[in-house]
Amino acid sequence: MIHNPIIDAMLNRKSVRTFTDEVPSEEVIETLVAAGQQAPFAYQLGSMVLDRSGKNPFKAPLFFLICYDAHRMALVAAKRAWEIAVDDLQLMAFGFQDAAYMAQNMVIAAESLGLASCYLGVYPFIAPAMQKKYKLPQRVFPVVGLAVGYPDPSEAEFPPRPRYPMSFTCFEGCYPELTDSEVEAAMQVMDEGYLAQGYYASQNVMIPLRGVKEETFTFENYSWTEHISRKCALYTDMNLRAAYEQVGFVMPQGGESMVLDEDEEE
Ligand SMILES: Cc1cc2nc3c(=O)[nH]c(=O)nc-3n(C[C@H](O)[C@H](O)[C@H](O)COP(=O)(O)O)c2cc1C
Repeated sequence: MIHNPIIDAMLNRKSVRTFTDEVPSEEVIETLVAAGQQAPFAYQLGSMVLDRSGKNPFKAPLFFLICYDAHRMALVAAKRAWEIAVDDLQLMAFGFQDAAYMAQNMVIAAESLGLASCYLGVYPFIAPAMQKKYKLPQRVFPVVGLAVGYPDPSEAEFPPRPRYPMSFTCFEGCYPELTDSEVEAAMQVMDEGYLAQGYYASQNVMIPLRGVKEETFTFENYSWTEHISRKCALYTDMNLRAAYEQVGFVMPQGGESMVLDEDEEE
């Protein structure tokens, strides 16, 4: 594999959840935001709110609420005497991407500056509360939170977290039929890697089974594949549609997807 400072920042990065009290300088903040803004965009639908209060789940000195912002797009279009007529699901498909690539540029920029970060995924589900807290206009949707600060030295001891094997992620030519043994091998890499760090034990996190099954796991064997599967199976009551609608988006119903000639995409 090739190494250079950018690749190394990507390969060595890990989510950090404890930070020192040191507050990043204005120059550092400006650099992070500029790096975020310079990400590729489809419609430039990403915006953010910076909260320096330290009142975030990881008590990080900086917290960015990264948003999909259809409000600002409407203001621009109105100046051109246009109204947004495409449905919200369509614009959102690009809005989420614009916001996410912006956020991820900030993550890598932070890493390169000796800072660390962690995303927080709850905000879409509590969009109305975020709208109130940060005075977000209608049609500004919080996609993800990003906590940023200087890493507590205790976090330095852990290696980057594992990923599925490359052969389980990048399929050459066309998508293969995945065999049981390939699935199991991929799961083993993930579970062993997280267990070796005591990842869930140190955070004291094990998703409760809500009476659906009896608990048989302990922190000796509870790891990533069980954790992520429980999320997929049990988090059925979070009603994202309601959150979208309460902050001003209208979700279309049904319909047929477009038959697209790939060569005519742009
Ligand atoms: C969209 C998104 C939401 C996330 N939400 C949370 C979160 O709410 N709490 C948390 O501790 N980590 C959160 N994470 C961080 C992941 O847990 C972390 O990226 C993953 O375990 C891989 O570890 P690594 O980033 O150290 O490689 C989130 C990551 C993403 C991309």
